[in-house]
Amino acid sequence: MANFFPRWTNTLPLKIVICGAIFGGLVTLFYWYYLTADYARVGYAPVQPVAFDHSLHAGQLGMDCRYCHSFVEISSHSNVPATHTCMKCHSQVQKESPKLELVRRSYETGEAIPWVRIHQAPDYVYFNHAVHVSRGVSCVSCHGNIHEMEVVYHAKSQTMGWCLECHRAPEKNIRPLEHVYNLAWKPDPKSGQTQLALGKELKERWAINPPQTCAGCHR
Ligand code: HEC
Ligand code: HEC
Ligand code: HEC
Ligand code: HEC
Ligand code: HEC
Repeated sequence: MANFFPRWTNTLPLKIVICGAIFGGLVTLFYWYYLTADYARVGYAPVQPVAFDHSLHAGQLGMDCRYCHSFVEISSHSNVPATHTCMKCHSQVQKESPKLELVRRSYETGEAIPWVRIHQAPDYVYFNHAVHVSRGVSCVSCHGNIHEMEVVYHAKSQTMGWCLECHRAPEKNIRPLEHVYNLAWKPDPKSGQTQLALGKELKERWAINPPQTCAGCHR
């Protein structure tokens, strides 16, 4: 009896299996790279031990970021405030509120409130807040509209590609120093000012040249 299928089909099942495995591998790599490196982190908003609201304190009440994040312009590290900073107001304001129970307890016992860290660069990366804010990079460029957030979330991916995107073209993000802590600030279109023109001018004036070599960020 004549063979119904041509000879080459003998290896077909094997080819299908191999191609399938390679394709599956690529799909996995794709998701692993894109989801873990970048997109998985955006939106991360852990539940905090106290329902602290930035849109109320920094937005409505208009408090300066430095009132609480007091090291941000002088240190590589931006601190989260100690409990006594809260108690400057909350020993008077809302002093019975159940939402502030843990804050009062922390103040009495001296045990820090266990805030859950949201943004964190790996150990092998050198990052410095003061360098950025003293060169006109606003919090909003890296953390998004914190002054409108009831719960802080990871607004930008903060991956290596993201750092480099700005280091290659910082003019898109630098602004006069007096507006660094005013997250809602925009160049005034009425005066014909654009972010790009202003950014270029400041970049030249301050001789800004962010590192793009590996050793700049991996020291
Ligand atoms: C009244 C004090 C207070 C003020 C004012 C304040 N913050 Fe915060 N901030 C906190 C506390 C407390 C946390 C930790 C809890 C949380 O994430 O909500 C925090 C968390 C953050 C985080 C996330 C930290 C992490 O773990 O990654 C960022 C970013 C931040 N603040 C930026 C800002 C910016 C920008 C401003 C000014 C627009 C500001 N904050 C004003 C108290 C404050
Ligand atoms: C400059 C004063 C000030 C500081 C400092 C301050 N708050 Fe507040 N906080 C307020 C005011 C004003 C309100 C709104 C009170 C109201 O709604 O009647 C408020 C409301 C709150 C509420 C909601 C209370 C409720 O029952 O609705 C929480 C929770 C809170 N703050 C947490 C914190 C924490 C945590 C800190 C420290 C990181 C802090 N606050 C620092 C002034 C302050
Ligand atoms: C150039 C980008 C950039 C700018 C500008 C910036 N941040 Fe950050 N921020 C980061 C990165 C990256 C981290 C994680 C750093 C780390 O792990 O050491 C971070 C972490 C933080 C943390 C968490 C620190 C902790 O130990 O929990 C706070 C709070 C914070 N930033 C507040 C601010 C405030 C307030 C401003 C504006 C005054 C600001 N940042 C401006 C990139 C930036
Ligand atoms: C929105 C723009 C922007 C982003 C995002 C940004 N940078 Fe920068 N970076 C700058 C500017 C502007 C400078 C100042 C360069 C100068 O003064 O010449 C700088 C300087 C630096 C320096 C040099 C500091 C020094 O002491 O020499 C390092 C390191 C650095 N950035 C690391 C990072 C890392 C890591 C990230 C990502 C987590 C990052 N930056 C994200 C704009 C940015
Ligand atoms: C502007 C700062 C900056 C520069 C310049 C930079 N890196 Fe990175 N690098 C980072 C940050 C931030 C991370 C962490 C990324 C994350 O957490 O997703 C990182 C992560 C890495 C990783 C870990 C793998 C990964 O992608 O997460 C490697 C490997 C690496 N960098 C190599 C390099 C090499 C090689 C160079 C030079 C060509 C370089 N980096 C230049 C900021 C930088």
